[in-house]
Amino acid sequence: MSHTVVIFGASGDLTRRKLIPALYSLQQKSRLPENTSIVGVSRSAFSDEDWRNQLLDSTHQFLGEEFDAEVWKSLSERIFYQPCDLTKPADMAELAARLAQIENGQAADRLYYMSTKPALYQKGITQLGLQGMADETLGARRVVVEKPFGTDLESAKALNKHVHTVFDEDQVYRIDHYLGKESVQNLFVLRFGNTIWEPLWNRNYVDHVQITVAESLSVGSRGGYYDTSGVLRDMFQNHLLQLMTITAMEAPVRNEPTQIRNEKVKVLAAVKPVIGTDCGRDTVRGQYEGYRNEEGVPADSTTATFGAIKLEIDNWRWQGVPFYLRSGKSMSCRTTQIVIQFKPTPHALFSQSDNGTLEANRLVIQVQPDEGLQLHLQTKVPDAGMLLRETDLDFSFREEYNTPLPDSYQRLLLDAMNGDASLFARSDEVELAWDIMDPIIQAWNSPHAPPLGFYEPGFWGPQYSMEWMHEQNRNWFDVCPVLH
Ligand code: BG6
Repeated sequence: MSHTVVIFGASGDLTRRKLIPALYSLQQKSRLPENTSIVGVSRSAFSDEDWRNQLLDSTHQFLGEEFDAEVWKSLSERIFYQPCDLTKPADMAELAARLAQIENGQAADRLYYMSTKPALYQKGITQLGLQGMADETLGARRVVVEKPFGTDLESAKALNKHVHTVFDEDQVYRIDHYLGKESVQNLFVLRFGNTIWEPLWNRNYVDHVQITVAESLSVGSRGGYYDTSGVLRDMFQNHLLQLMTITAMEAPVRNEPTQIRNEKVKVLAAVKPVIGTDCGRDTVRGQYEGYRNEEGVPADSTTATFGAIKLEIDNWRWQGVPFYLRSGKSMSCRTTQIVIQFKPTPHALFSQSDNGTLEANRLVIQVQPDEGLQLHLQTKVPDAGMLLRETDLDFSFREEYNTPLPDSYQRLLLDAMNGDASLFARSDEVELAWDIMDPIIQAWNSPHAPPLGFYEPGFWGPQYSMEWMHEQNRNWFDVCPVLH
């Protein structure tokens, strides 16, 4: 069966920076199915040749020395462009005819990739329906929808409802690029491909879990978008909650999309709501100094660029184990890490530690950069009586496999083309995630909001965030990547 990937929003940044380089890499590794055509769609009046030339420059620039002209040639022969306003039926009819021509009127599996402005998702999907382009008589018809999927529960529900008037749920792929990261998939393997963690992975041994996605970059030129979104919509509703569900979920009965997604949904459904006055107690919000001077940001903006939230998962495994989620822009460094903080030993035999405190065991899962694991243990300092020191066991993907890790879009595009939705969010999953975030977003815009703490760029968020943890007798694991 041949494949057609149709990219709506072809002239956008995501296409240049992520989608085409990912398709190039798949081609280079001979993983792109034979007879795959790539059709870019946007309103600009480019010819096939114009678009290929633009992509040649951007892909070359993006891949640098990795770029191979021969690979590009074999890929670019399959690249086409169709100018089209996806809100106009006549344009969409022309697109439908062009696709049929590219496919020689034969059956082909199609992947429609919605990478336009989110405001156009609904209109585009309506037109796909009206033109009969979701009909599967001549091959599978799948649609990938980029984030953000809605801006709150109500809009996400409305979008789901609308999408379902055209596509069945099993044709819909809601993308979250964090799920395509190698280290996030390795979290499944760590948890469900090994025996040793399972007995410890629960309230009996775990004191709490910290999930941090820290970015050193500021909002840069995205101020206009970011100010309407803020850290909760931009990072928590999707990436952080996804990392939390994979950390907390039960083992699925089979490694298949429905079973995996059922387990993830159960975690989200078990999250205790953080509502109203709880938000003052269980959340921290911050803004980096200088944010209000960014392009597109109002001078009196109270949008949070940093957030920390304490969530509780009301189920048998996690009762009483807080999950601390934290993310921010302009922080100390770029690091995404999941810290499983184990409880201290039940009986303290040793009292001397060379840094003054006897830390309990800790597993740090470094999602990026330099993906890997670090297990913190107490050891005896040689020839120093019973003095203890915290040491660590490291596992680094780079050192072990000596191969660069692929960008997440490679895996996600290929999975969507092959109809594997394991790493995509289901409609109920997205809605439950909004259900968790909506009350917090609302509270942050109300008198129940915690104070907006300002922080200097290059810090771990506002000072109040550290105090908040101390009040709970805990500390953030504020360490820039543990693996290098
Ligand atoms: C995006 C957010 O979804 O994820 C950005 O919109 C953020 O604000 C980005 O910078 C982070 O992704 P990554 O893969 O660089 O950690």
